[in-house]
Amino acid sequence: MSNPIIINPKHIAIIMDGNGRWAKAKGLPRAFGHKKGMDCVRLTVEACSEKNIEALTLFAFSTENWNRPEEEVGYLMKLFLIMMKSEAQKLNKNNVKLRVIGDRNRFSDKLKKAMLDAESLTKNNTGLSLNIAANYGGRMDITKATKVLCRRVAKGELNPENITEEILQAELALSDLPEPDLLIRTGGEKRVSNFLLWQLAYAEYYLIDSYWPDFDKQMLDKAIISFSLRQRRFGKIL
Ligand code: FPP
Repeated sequence: MSNPIIINPKHIAIIMDGNGRWAKAKGLPRAFGHKKGMDCVRLTVEACSEKNIEALTLFAFSTENWNRPEEEVGYLMKLFLIMMKSEAQKLNKNNVKLRVIGDRNRFSDKLKKAMLDAESLTKNNTGLSLNIAANYGGRMDITKATKVLCRRVAKGELNPENITEEILQAELALSDLPEPDLLIRTGGEKRVSNFLLWQLAYAEYYLIDSYWPDFDKQMLDKAIISFSLRQRRFGKIL
């Protein structure tokens, strides 16, 4: 029998969970889990580029993650800086377009500048769109978009009766990209944790028990095969 044709998702979103538990299981500090998690980010970006996937969005830091110990938050900030500096140079060579979504106000000036520089360096690239969700929350995203529309209403530019899903969506993060059609979550939890709440409305979920630092290309392939076998009906009867 011939192999089934694999249909790649256009946009993969990933909740990279389990770094801390991975480290704990090995008797290591949590930072080691994040460090190894960064290696998995590299290999996932590489694999998605090779497969010509249009977009990859990674949940790297939620609006709730500030509640972690200062040392852990500090280490994650260090990894973000590495991502925006040395990694961005490599991503640029590989035609990857890097973008950060989320509220940057709480980041240091140095990190904010590095984010802008990395985005500007890679903005004309035509390969994989890599979006890093940092200090991101789905509810915050929708609230911000609502405020934009309210301001337009207040100025008399927009009639509330004319607000459509498309008009609201245009103000949300990633509105220029196809909606994520595959959501992968590692680490065994089965929830969306305030990730791309609006954008994931019709995504197929692929939930695995493995911790993020154990994620590899074979797991990505399995997720894509599973996606490819799903019958996507979008509420309709086929
Ligand atoms: C969730 O695992 C992971 C995070 C909060 C951080 C993710 C960061 C990385 C993978 C490395 C840096 C990435 C980039 C893009 C620069 P957890 O710590 O909540 O694990 P636990 O549930 O086992 O405690």
